[in-house]
This record gives sequence, structure tokens and C-alpha cells, in this order.
Amino acid sequence: MTDSDLKRLYPISATINSKNHFTIAGSDLSDLAESYRTPFYIYDRDTIHENIHRIRSAMADFYSGPGTIAYASKAYLSRKFASKIATEEVDLDVVSLTELRFALAAGFSPDRIHFHGNNKSIEEIEIAVDQNIHAIVVDNMDELLLTERIANSKKKVAQIWLRITPDIRVATHPHIETSAATSKFGFHIINGDAANAIEYAVNSSALCLTGLHCHLGSQLFDPLPYQIAIEKMFDLAINCNYTPLELSPGGGWGVPYVEDDPDSNPEQWVKAISETITKKCNRYQIRLPKLILESGRFIVARSGVAIYQIGTQKKSVNGEKIIAVDGGMSDNPRNALYQAKYTATPVDQSVHSRKNPCKVVGKYCESGDVLIDNVMLPDLNYGDLLMIPVAGAYQLSMASNYNLAPRPVVLWLEPEGKVEVLQERENLEQNSWWD
Ligand code: LLP
Repeated sequence: MTDSDLKRLYPISATINSKNHFTIAGSDLSDLAESYRTPFYIYDRDTIHENIHRIRSAMADFYSGPGTIAYASKAYLSRKFASKIATEEVDLDVVSLTELRFALAAGFSPDRIHFHGNNKSIEEIEIAVDQNIHAIVVDNMDELLLTERIANSKKKVAQIWLRITPDIRVATHPHIETSAATSKFGFHIINGDAANAIEYAVNSSALCLTGLHCHLGSQLFDPLPYQIAIEKMFDLAINCNYTPLELSPGGGWGVPYVEDDPDSNPEQWVKAISETITKKCNRYQIRLPKLILESGRFIVARSGVAIYQIGTQKKSVNGEKIIAVDGGMSDNPRNALYQAKYTATPVDQSVHSRKNPCKVVGKYCESGDVLIDNVMLPDLNYGDLLMIPVAGAYQLSMASNYNLAPRPVVLWLEPEGKVEVLQERENLEQNSWWD
């Protein structure tokens, strides 16, 4: 591992201790492996705190209107993690009833919750309306009519945003691009749906349209598409004689997973977005809306590390070394889904043999069960610990029980070796599959 990897890819509290073991927030990962067994995941409190602080400072520096940060909880959420995030005084984006329940149980005020999704159930909308959450982010006309009907039946006014799709392409994996003309998400501008929805919503007595939202995609490094989207959203709103009080230009800010990836740059992102909003508001002579920035990956990805134990190793016919670990696509399906790149390094940093190109695979019955296609690793033995950084976003939240694999234990690390279990290792023999 290079110093630059340590500074960019691992949690900010990561160090190597006197035993040459990898340590996070004062906890030696090999000690944690003994206590909690592998595979396990850790989240570093300080990294999350620092990332939120960077966005907040950038907002204070570049945006002169009101603003807030929303954590996109689909990146990772458990009930205890929600309580940790609540102490950071951010809003929370949820996308399912369980995420909403976790948020409320963790003490999030309903006024800090936004409910996204393209097919919310009647029950989800009913609870969101009952709870008076800050915004139900309505995705399509069916949902707009349903939300209006539910609010009417409860004699309430539902606060909503409309998800606008600006019909532009972004540079990322097609599965995580959400703003193209063919996207399943949102009211498209290009076919008039967005204008119709604004007109309908502002004329409904059961709906209060407080703002507009868009989300273009994930793992993006260029804010320009967002600037174009924001321009389009203001033009659309003003053409409909509507002035948004709130604007939520999504999330999607990229993070480096491997050495060659560019750095995250939330400052550049917030600056670019703020300048465009300010320019449009000046042009149209309207007040700056409240800006809501919904980041998931940037806030949590680097705070997470996955730790595995090495099992069997072999050489494939093309000479490639294949190392199997005791997890895989069940806890991290991102390589299988998006050919996502990762790096890895041993927890014991005293291994100094020559490095060879290796493929790190999981233990599950599928050839696509690959964690890393190519990584340089020293010679390692059965039982050695291997860790994969930048593991905090969209791994555990997309984990599965394939081959009846239990989801791993998840630990929250605070300075001076403080450890808390966020999520116990799953025990599939104590649930309804077993009974
Ligand atoms: N807002 C909305 C409406 C979203 O749908 C998302 C992510 C976000 C914000 C946060 O995006 P972020 O800042 O985390 O990129 N499973 C994929 C990523 C899917 C993202 C879904 N939406 C992956 O593993 O790369």
C-alpha cells in the first residue's frame, strides 16, 4: 500500500501500529478479527464527520441562500447507524418504509426526511403523509394523483417535491445513470410531463409543491451536467409561473476506489452548483431557494472497510493467481453489477515479498463472484487477513443471502479504540427460513 492510498482510500483515522498491523481509530484490525470473526465491516466515525463537514463548509463558502445536507440512506443504513448519522444534524433521504421507520426510530424529525422512489406503496405514502415528512418526492403522474387522493382522504396537505428528469446523459455505468431520456425515473422535461406535473401540483389544494428535485446518476466527477440540469429546471419552473422554494439537485459525487481514480471534490461541486443557481435566480429576479444536497457515497464510502480472511489460492491456466476470501458477492455485489474496481491490502503490513497480479474472488457458486479483477498483492497464506477499502457505500445495503450466506457483522469505530456493533452477524438459523 502506498502512502497516497492510505491518505485517499482508507479512513482518515487509519494508521499502521508498532506491530505493523493496520489500525483504524485506534483499533487493530487483527484484534477485531479475533473478537468478531471475518468477514466484518467497519465504519470510521471521524471520516463520516469530516466528509459532512467538508460539504457544510463548501455550502457556507459558496452558497448565500439557505441550505442543508441530506444523507442518501440507501448507501448504507441500519437503525444504529441512523442514530449515528442523526447526531450530524443532516436530513435523511429514504426510499422504503423500513428506511423511514429506522429514521423515525433513530430520532430524525419528520421535517428532516425526504421520501424518494418511483413506485411508493399506498402504505408508504399514507405513513409519509401522516408523519408530515418534509417532502414526498413524487416521481410520476400516477403517484401524484395517489398522493393527492391520500392527502385528501386524510384532510391533510402533503408537502411534495417533483422529481424532474432533464433528459441528459452523464458519464458513469449505465446502471447508475438516471437522467437520460429513456430513464424510468421522474417527470421528463422533453415530453411535457414535467410541465404538466408542476401545473397540476400548484393547482391542487391537497398538495403543497415546495420544491423540485433531480438526480442524474452516481459516481460522477464532473458537475457540469448538474449545472445544465439546474438551468433546465429553472427555465421549466419559470415557464410554468412557478418559483421553487427548495431545490434538491441530487447526489452522485464520485469517490476514488483505486489509485488511478480522480479525487472527490465536493468544494468544486458545491461551487459550480451554487454559481448556476445564483445566476439563474438573478436572471429571473427570484429568491435563492433552499439548497438540499443529497450525498450518499461521498459521505460514507471511504469510512467503510471490509475485512476478509484468505482461504484457498490457486493459479489459473493463464498464470493468474486467484485468491478466495470468506465473503464475496453476497456482501459486495458491485463488481458483479457494475464491474466496479477495488484495491486490497493485507492487515499485516509486515509482509514484504514481491507483489504479483492477483484476482480476489468470493466463496459463492457463481463465476461472477469476483471482488477485484486485478490487484498487486504480496505472497499471502491461508488465514491471513485482507482488507478492501472504500467499502462503506452500496455494499452492505445491496448485500444478499446467496448460498444462505449471513450478512457480516458491522462495527462502528471511534477514537481510542472505542468499538460498537452496528449490526450483528446475521443468523439465518434463527429466522423464518429455518423454522
Ligand atoms: N439522491 C437520489 C434520488 C438517489 O437515487 C441517489 C442514489 C442519491 C441521492 C445518492 O447518490 P450518491 O451520492 O450515493 O451517488 N448501487 C449503485 C449506486 C446507486 C445510487 C442510487 N441512487 C452503486 O453501487 O454504485
